[in-house]
Amino acid sequence: MNAPSVAPRPAVPRIATGPRGLPLIGVARDARKDVLGFLMRTVAEHGPVVQYRFGPGRAYLVTHPDGLKYVLQDNSKNYTKDHFSYSMVRRVVGDGLLTSQGETWLKQRRLAQPAFHRARIAAMAEQMVRATAEFSEHWAESQRTGAPRHAVRDMMALTLRIVGEALLGTDVRAETEVVSAAFNVVSEQTVERFRTLRLIPPILPTAYDRAYRRANHTLREVVARVIAKRREHLEDRGDLLSMFMLARDEETGEQMDDAHLQGEVLTMMIAGHETTATTLSWVWVLLEQNPEVERQLHAELESVLGGRAPTAEDVPRLVYTRRVLDETLRLYPPVYILSRKVMEDDTVYGYQVLAGSSLDMSPYVTHRLAEFWPDPERFDPDRFTPEKIAARPRYAYFPFLGGPRQCIGNTFALMEGTLILATLAQRHRPRMVAGYTPKPEPLLTLRPASELPVMITAR
Ligand code: HEM
Repeated sequence: MNAPSVAPRPAVPRIATGPRGLPLIGVARDARKDVLGFLMRTVAEHGPVVQYRFGPGRAYLVTHPDGLKYVLQDNSKNYTKDHFSYSMVRRVVGDGLLTSQGETWLKQRRLAQPAFHRARIAAMAEQMVRATAEFSEHWAESQRTGAPRHAVRDMMALTLRIVGEALLGTDVRAETEVVSAAFNVVSEQTVERFRTLRLIPPILPTAYDRAYRRANHTLREVVARVIAKRREHLEDRGDLLSMFMLARDEETGEQMDDAHLQGEVLTMMIAGHETTATTLSWVWVLLEQNPEVERQLHAELESVLGGRAPTAEDVPRLVYTRRVLDETLRLYPPVYILSRKVMEDDTVYGYQVLAGSSLDMSPYVTHRLAEFWPDPERFDPDRFTPEKIAARPRYAYFPFLGGPRQCIGNTFALMEGTLILATLAQRHRPRMVAGYTPKPEPLLTLRPASELPVMITAR
């Protein structure tokens, strides 16, 4: 498919055009069939700001970096999370950092921010590498026996363990499988409910709704138990939960109560494992498809690490490894679409947007605009040299968003991704099983279809 081209910025406010869609459901059916194709086609045909109906409501899709900067940064107060997509997330996490707004959000962000300082994250490197080294034994076993693995499932289990330990220490390790299964139910149903516009809460006595309620209950119960245990001996154990429990708002002196803590921990687990796992899954696909990139990656790992395990100090020296991750996040941003509600009439990139509408943004599409990304489908980590980054508008690339609601876990994710990749790529080369063609499957995040079946070969 051709990459969408972008019209020059118009001088007077314009009315955005877009696909007509069907009565009542608008473009929901097209979007459900193939959301990525729908987005790419729509932008190629209608330009940098598109208008359509999703269900009964009006929506705009903004893809130009200048429009995104305006929405996410310059006038971000006008674009809120009073959007039905967040109501679904609220069912799981309540008002956590991802879903709250206004003063509540600001207070929570201030409390959580110190837990994500670079030094604090660096102290977690050892645990990240230990978890990866232990996981690597499963791949070594497959290497010996020839048994295939599912890379998505593997990366999910690894990143869930890492974020779980970073948040809660080792308190939930024994329950990883139960937690992981509950997350799967919640995450799969959230996507299905969204796609089929099934917006009523899961309160019916059906097996489907019951499974959702049970999974939600399991997650809450596990986290509540850990918090209650911690309350018995409150001390700084170096994990994020300790930080959250001990943190005081600088202005008000307030601390987080248990309900708030529970929401925050679940938010971090949801926001912080599937995203990193799908990114790493795509890395394996892209390395196999691009042998020259794989060769350069191996050369860097050889020269910086020479076969030993990486540490936090190595991360800034693993420059090419990081570029591989950056470029993977360009082609397959885990958060491929996200939405805000327009609070007041406004003009975005020269186009009128009306209050009450949805405003959609798609890193997947913007990351493929040929104007900023020549030959956009080509995987080329050297797009991320400091000079090339400086030559692009800030919002040509936004896998972690930007502005006040930028991902709080981006440093965590990039360090974790670098350490996992450096550890595993020194030892293994996953290869897609014969006959498998990797296709993006847009669920809650953008993952390779069929959980990416691979054979593990030796480096
Ligand atoms: C490759 C990995 C990741 C990607 C691509 C990613 C992407 C994003 C994006 C796009 C948002 C904005 C969502 C929105 O406004 O609707 C976000 C928010 C957030 N992310 Fe991440 N994320 C990643 C990893 C993590 C990790 C590891 C954590 C925690 C350990 C985390 C925690 C959060 C939280 C708490 C928010 C809400 C922040 C706020 O609104 O103040 N993320 N992330």
